[in-house]
Amino acid sequence: MISQEQYPQELIRFLEASPTAFHAVVSAGTMLAAAGFQRLHEEDDWGELGPGAYYVSRNDSTIIAFRLAKGAAVCQALRMAGAHTDSPALRVKPHAVHSKSGYVQLGVEIYGGALLAPWFDRDCSLAGRVVWRSTTGQVRTGLLDFRRALVTIPSLAIHLDPEVNKQRSINRQTDMVPILALGDVPDFSSLLLQELQRQHGINMEQAELLDFDLFLYDTQAPALVGLKEEFICSARLDNLLSCHALVQALCGAEAGKDSLIVLNDHEEVGSTSMVGAQGSFLKDVLARLFQPGQVQRIVARSLFVSVDNAHALHPNFSSKYEPEHAPAMHGGPVIKINANQRYATSGVTAALLTLLCREARIPCQKFVMRNDMACGSTIGPLTAAALGLATVDVGVPQLAMHSVRETAAWLDGYSLLRLLQTFFGAADAQLSASAVD
Ligand code: CO
Repeated sequence: MISQEQYPQELIRFLEASPTAFHAVVSAGTMLAAAGFQRLHEEDDWGELGPGAYYVSRNDSTIIAFRLAKGAAVCQALRMAGAHTDSPALRVKPHAVHSKSGYVQLGVEIYGGALLAPWFDRDCSLAGRVVWRSTTGQVRTGLLDFRRALVTIPSLAIHLDPEVNKQRSINRQTDMVPILALGDVPDFSSLLLQELQRQHGINMEQAELLDFDLFLYDTQAPALVGLKEEFICSARLDNLLSCHALVQALCGAEAGKDSLIVLNDHEEVGSTSMVGAQGSFLKDVLARLFQPGQVQRIVARSLFVSVDNAHALHPNFSSKYEPEHAPAMHGGPVIKINANQRYATSGVTAALLTLLCREARIPCQKFVMRNDMACGSTIGPLTAAALGLATVDVGVPQLAMHSVRETAAWLDGYSLLRLLQTFFGAADAQLSASAVD
C-alpha cells in the first residue's frame, strides 16, 4: 500500500503515462505485471485457472484483472470493481492533414461530451495506436506518443469578436480545427512511421502505414495546486484517477480474497462496443473462468463497485446542485443515487459501501442530481443490467468534468484507494445483506 505522502506523485505518474485509453491499459498492465499478475490472451486456451493473479486486455483499450485465492473451481464470490479508461478528446480524422489559408491543419472529430472552450490555446500533442504492414507483410500495431507540442487551436482575437465574453457558441466543425504547420502539407503517414521508428527502434523504411487511432492531448503536466497543494489539476482525472486507484488497490490486496477489476473503454460514447461496458468482455471472461451455474451463484453473492468521478460543489455555481446532496471536496468518495436508475446504487449496496468506508476510516457522502436537471450515467447500470449484479456507483468529487484540465482534491483519491483496498480484503459476508423471513 502506498502512503498518503507517495500517493499524489504516483497518481501524477500514471496520468502522464496515459494520454489515451491505449496507454492507460499499458500503464495498468505494467503495474499489474510488477505485482506478479500473469498475462492471459483471449486467443489462448486458459484451461482451469488455479490460484494466482491474472490480467487480460481486449483491443488494447480495455483490461480485466483478477485474483483467484484458491483457484476458479472453488470461488464463491467476487469483490468486483470497474472504471473507464477513456476521456472526451479530439480524435484525428482519416484524411488527417489539409491546407487552408497558408496553414497546414489537422482534421479532428470530437470524441465524447467534451467541454470545447478549454481546448483553445493549448499546446497539444498526439498519441494513440498506429497500424502498419511490415516488410514481411505482417499487419502490426504499436502505440505512439509524440510527447511534444505539435498543434494548437488558437482563439479568435477579442477585437474580431467583441461580444465573445457575453455570448459564445462554438461550431464543432469549423471553429476548432487545429493548426499543425506553415507551408506545404507534410506526408502524415511518413511522419507517423518516422516517429514509430524513433520510439520503438524498428526499421520502418519499407513499412507501409495502414491506419491509426490518434487523439490530441494537452501537454501541460499534471500539477498540485493550492495554498497547501490540496488540489490536483490534470487532464483525464475522469476517469484515470479511478483506474489508478483500482489497479493500485488490487495490486496491494490480500492474496486470500477473490477479486476482479474491469477498466472499460468507450464509456464516454455510450459503452456499446466490443470493449464498452455494454459489450461482452466481462461476461466472456467470467464464462471462461467458471462453470455454467457457478457463474450465476458467484454473481448472486458478489458486489460490483462502479467507480467514476462525481461533481464537487462549485462555489460559483451552487444553484446547480441539490442543496442537501452537494458533494464536498475532502468529503470522501461520493455514493451516487438516482431514482430512475441512471446510477445502479440501491439502499442495500449503499449501506454495504458505507460500512466499508467506516471500516477504512474514511468519510463518504451521497449525491443526487436536482430534479430539474438531467442526470449523467456511467458503467454501473450497464454492468448491473448485463450480469444481474448488485452494484454501487461511487466516485471522487471533482470540478470541471470533461474539461481538458480538471480539478480534484487528491486526498479524496487517497480515500478512494483506502476504500478499495478495504473492499478487496472484505469477507464474503460483507458483499451482501440477508433478508428477515
Ligand atoms: Co467518467
